[in-house]
Parts: sequence; C-alpha cells; structure tokens
Amino acid sequence: MIRIVGLSGNVKAPSRTAALTSALLSEAARGLAAEVRHISLVDAAPILFRALRADQLDKNGLEIIETVENADALIVSSPVYRASYTGALKHLFDLVDYRALTGVPVILAATGGRASHGLMPDQQLRPLMAFFKALPLPTSVYAVESDFSDYGVESEALNERIAEAGAELRAALTQPAASLRRKLTEPTFARRIA
Ligand SMILES: Cc1cc2nc3c(=O)[nH]c(=O)nc-3n(C[C@H](O)[C@H](O)[C@H](O)COP(=O)(O)O)c2cc1C
Repeated sequence: MIRIVGLSGNVKAPSRTAALTSALLSEAARGLAAEVRHISLVDAAPILFRALRADQLDKNGLEIIETVENADALIVSSPVYRASYTGALKHLFDLVDYRALTGVPVILAATGGRASHGLMPDQQLRPLMAFFKALPLPTSVYAVESDFSDYGVESEALNERIAEAGAELRAALTQPAASLRRKLTEPTFARRIA
C-alpha cells in the first residue's frame, strides 16, 4: 500500500491551505491503492512544540514525525506567512531525520493573500525539499482567496493545476522518472517567429 501524506502548515481552522491539501491528496491518490493521511499543523503543532529537538518527542509527536518519515509521497502545503511558509511547518521539518526523505516525490503548494507571493512554493519550499534530497515535482500549486468558496476549492484554473500536480505525483510513484518529461506538441516560440 502506497502511503501518501499531506502536510498543511495552516495554524487556524477552517483553512484554505487544508482544503487545497485535501484536494491534492484526493487527486494524487486517484486510482492508486494508497493510504492517505492529512496532518494539519493547527492540530500537530501543539504536540510537536512540546519538543524542541527530536529526542524530546513524546509518543504522539513521534507518531506524527514517523508518519512523515515513512511516507512514499508527500504534499507539502502552507499559507504564506511573511513571504514564506509558517514557522509551525518548519518546526515539523526540524524534527524529521535529514536522511528520511531522499527521493520522496513531493507536491509543493501554498495559499496566500496576494498573487505576487505566488513563487513562495518554488522559492521557499523547494529549497527545503532540496535539503532533504526529496523530489519536488515540476508543478507547484498556488492559490489565493478568490480561488475558494466557503473554504472549498472553486476556480477552474486551480482545479486544473491540482489535476496536473496530482498526475505528476501518480507518475512519479508508478512510472520511471523519464515519464515526467513532457514533449512539446506545438512549435516553440522561436520556431513560430522564424
Ligand atoms: C501572520 C500572517 C502573515 C501573512 N503573510 C502573508 C504574506 O506575506 N503574503 C501573502 O500573500 N499573504 C500573507 N498572509 C495571508 C495568508 O497567507 C492567506 O490568508 C492564507 O490563504 C491563509 O491560509 P489558511 O486559510 O490556510 O490559514 C498572511 C497571513 C497572516 C495571518
């Protein structure tokens, strides 16, 4: 059974980030024999902050960290806070063994208040995953308030991006890495001009 774990860095509920992670989890697991687990930092952070180091984790904290360390695939998602991911999400990753996520495919995602912070997943979450030698997938997902309705994913553009990211994760889990390569079906811009 493939274990897909969604991590939402939200520190409040209800949460658009958690809604986005749920949608990504459903899409990523579609058609797979997968066990899906969703961890929201609003619930996990009070447990994890009882430990400042991994050797201080209690039973509940250890269970959360080991769930992340044993995942076959991750969705790492956060609200943008101060142009980055939340401190609560960073604390979780500070407790994860640095060797545990090598080669693990990861969908990067975020929600924010402003479109101009749309590169947060690529500029902040991607380097964090690079530290772990994980395999962040090509399509990151970013959403703003207008993409949601009543804390549910609403916009067509966002649903398309979720589908794209989900397909990449399924491909990473089931096919060789070469299958991530997408060949252009149209002429490149350079060719079109020539
Ligand atoms: C402390 C704090 C800092 C924030 N900083 C940013 C920011 O730098 N850029 C941005 O686009 N939105 C920022 N926001 C807005 C949140 O990212 C946005 O409302 C997000 O969708 C909330 O997600 P949630 O519903 O999962 O909590 C901030 C919100 C808070 C509370």
